[in-house]
Amino acid sequence: AQNTVKIDFSAEKSKDTISKHIYGHFAEHLGRCIYEGLYVGEENKTIPNTDGVRNDIIEALKELDIPNLRWPGGCFADTYHWKDGVGPQSERPTIVNRWWGGTTEDNSFGTHNFLNLCEVLEAEPYLSANVGSGTVQELIDWVQYTNHDGTSPMADWRRKNGREEPWKVKYWGVGNEAWGCGGNMTAEYYANIYRQYATFMAGWSGESEVYRIASGASEDDYHWTETLMKNVPHELMEAVALHDYAVFNWDVKGPSVNFDEEIYFKTMEQALNMEEYVTKHIEIMDKYDPDGKVDLFVDEWGGWYDAEPEVKNGVLYQQNTIRDVMIAGTVLNTFNNHARRVKMANLAQVVNVLQAVILTDEEKMIKTPTYHVMHMYKVHHDALLIPTEIENNAEYRGLPVVSVSASENSDGKKHISIVNIDPEKEISIEINVANLNSKNFEAQILTSPKLQDHNTFENADKVIPKPFKEFKVRKGILNLKLPAHSLVMLSSD
Ligand code: AHR
Repeated sequence: AQNTVKIDFSAEKSKDTISKHIYGHFAEHLGRCIYEGLYVGEENKTIPNTDGVRNDIIEALKELDIPNLRWPGGCFADTYHWKDGVGPQSERPTIVNRWWGGTTEDNSFGTHNFLNLCEVLEAEPYLSANVGSGTVQELIDWVQYTNHDGTSPMADWRRKNGREEPWKVKYWGVGNEAWGCGGNMTAEYYANIYRQYATFMAGWSGESEVYRIASGASEDDYHWTETLMKNVPHELMEAVALHDYAVFNWDVKGPSVNFDEEIYFKTMEQALNMEEYVTKHIEIMDKYDPDGKVDLFVDEWGGWYDAEPEVKNGVLYQQNTIRDVMIAGTVLNTFNNHARRVKMANLAQVVNVLQAVILTDEEKMIKTPTYHVMHMYKVHHDALLIPTEIENNAEYRGLPVVSVSASENSDGKKHISIVNIDPEKEISIEINVANLNSKNFEAQILTSPKLQDHNTFENADKVIPKPFKEFKVRKGILNLKLPAHSLVMLSSD
């Protein structure tokens, strides 16, 4: 029999705010993410749209309160020349998407489309700039184009293209995966290049200065983070990135739906590595930056499986199951618990690519189980982290079974997100709520009988959150039976 798992809080130690930007998203020119996904074109008469972006997606993302959106890549960013994506659409040159499927794109979705979309979504844009095949001048021009409100060649060009006021873009990525698709650079070489690019980005945005993000390490490449923290002056770098996907074998990633228990275990083993990676990268950052001036942005994360073979142009198109709920729930708990340094994260990717929150098929659109995790976790946006402790955690083939994070919002409401990754066993949990000073508990659960269950265009609501009542509070202890592979959000006054 499993022991009872105990969860306790140290509410008196609360001091860090969970940045809402941890709940950020990522949209790359890849497969059907932008074209045939978000953007169906201004001339489209069959799919309702606003300036070419699908209204159903806008509505769904607004419901999620997405705090930011990263664009245009990923690997694509280091091939992208932004000037080819502004001005009259009919005059724009094409671009071959060299990394993703070799498709020829018409550049119809460009800077104005993206930044206007972010305004509609009330999300902060995060522009990922081309370092690998671009120039310092090209990047400065982009900053000037989007952010300068005086008279300058780029600001005047922006006005000529129909936009008077600058967008004042805050977040700027200086290249992407510079160790790989962004140029195969060494950490030492990139640190120097970064210094050069970052130097010229400041000064175009008036009071609201730009926030520069250095292309970060992959997984456990601690040398990368150490080199950046050591070699780049901290006044030139507001954040360092980190990418970590839950992939157990890059050559054979396994199916997104018809996976067996062995594959499930291996995926979760990878997903839970996030805790160790984030902890160790932060240790390095603390060593060089004890005052916490430089933030950690996990600007790509999620499950990555073999693409669904039958979907046309479906580069990296995968389905999304209860396994993805387990990944999202545990990883987001990790980010919350490291809120002191993790100030942004971007799930890869928003529509039709990897662990997407939305899938589309022509005029149809569905919300995936991961969408519902993001929706349930909205309560943590900008809330005060309440440190938690787990005692006597159960094990699933050596992995910790229960994951938790908790927060208090500005109205004094508390929220506890708990995940049980065990594929088969229900877990008894005893939560010491006495020192939370809470009452009136309510809960919602996200689960389904099978790990492989997912939403389809024919059955869009198979996996959705439901009210959950299997708990009791007595004398400051909340007893909960957490079903196998489930995620529960407890709320209290
Ligand atoms: O998200 C897909 C790809 O994964 C991105 O383009 C790249 O940055 C990463 O390797």
